[in-house]
Amino acid sequence: MRVVTVDVRHPDPAVIAEAALLIRAGELVAFPTETVYGLGANALDPDAVGRIFETKGRPAWNPVIVHVADTAQARVLAANWPTSAARLAERCWPGPLTLVVPRSSIIPNVVAAGGDTVGLRMPAHRVALALIEAAGCPIAAPSANRFTQVSPTTAGHVLTSLGNSPGLVLDGGPCTVGIESTVVDCTEDAVSILRPGMIGINALTDALEGMDIVVRNARPQHLSGCTRGGGTGEEIPAPRSPGMTRRHYAPHADVWLFYPTDQERIATALVAYMSGQSSRRPVVGLLRSVDFGDLPMTVVRMPDDPAQYAQELYAALHEADARGASIVFIEMPPAGAEWDGIRDRLTRASHEDML
Ligand code: TXA
Ligand code: MG
Repeated sequence: MRVVTVDVRHPDPAVIAEAALLIRAGELVAFPTETVYGLGANALDPDAVGRIFETKGRPAWNPVIVHVADTAQARVLAANWPTSAARLAERCWPGPLTLVVPRSSIIPNVVAAGGDTVGLRMPAHRVALALIEAAGCPIAAPSANRFTQVSPTTAGHVLTSLGNSPGLVLDGGPCTVGIESTVVDCTEDAVSILRPGMIGINALTDALEGMDIVVRNARPQHLSGCTRGGGTGEEIPAPRSPGMTRRHYAPHADVWLFYPTDQERIATALVAYMSGQSSRRPVVGLLRSVDFGDLPMTVVRMPDDPAQYAQELYAALHEADARGASIVFIEMPPAGAEWDGIRDRLTRASHEDML
């Protein structure tokens, strides 16, 4: 495994050419995008895409996103190009938005997990775009981590999760968006948000202005899921997006999600937990407004701004794992659509027996 640093503003053409050659040869290359690092392969080569699944330990029912360098390339991969997709691509690409559209026959089955659609995204990242252009093919890339682990937002996270598996990791520094792209289904009259992200329902609605197209959340934001025994998977309808299993973005530590109003209950539970714990593994708190005083907790202060919060979230979770944390306490961010993507990831990072 080689890790090569690339300048995000001016990616070295020689480095990009080398990475593109590996992609052309059916090998895997991990590369930065604005959301998270991707584990890339030639999207038109089923064997190469199969290697992504092997490396991640990813189940075959979970389709991968295909990255393109422009809309023209996307259209070739779609059986048809819905008007919603056309407008969203025009307004939101390049950017952290994946459009699910009917797939053309050149998309291998393995990419689509046997389904009749494909998720397409043009990333807003010079290294990613340069790589796709140089490879001359669309690049299938899920997040560059083992299945169910937290997505990587640095090259270091990729190495921790995947070890020596990808032949080459392009290191473009920390990702700026920090959580995975918003995934929307454009195959029906209304646009459904299958996976919330930092392009939220309001931005999508604005982008579709004047088109008489409704945007809706395909899944409820399980805000009620913060009492013990509550918030389990039951109330969540069968996922339309196959990757939407609950335990999807989990760190090794237990994640306890709580509302600021639950502070006292959490403090009591923490003291009880600490007194019953023989090992000395640390407890980490990702906190915004709450202060637990002198309780033995390593506190990471999280930002009030959702964009900043998203950018820092996965690094904080990776750091908690690196410290060997037994529990990560996370203060639930406020209600509001701008936090939808973050609440979604936090809910899925937490165990079902939340406090
Ligand atoms: O930001 C991102 O989207 C990152 C970077 C690397 O681009 N990629 C990423 O890929 O998060 P991945 O594989 O970890 O997540 C892809 C998810 C799948 O789990 C699935 O839920 C959804 O996107 N998806 C992909 N193709 C789909 C399809 N045809 N229909 C429905 N959902 C799809
Ligand atoms: Mg992933």
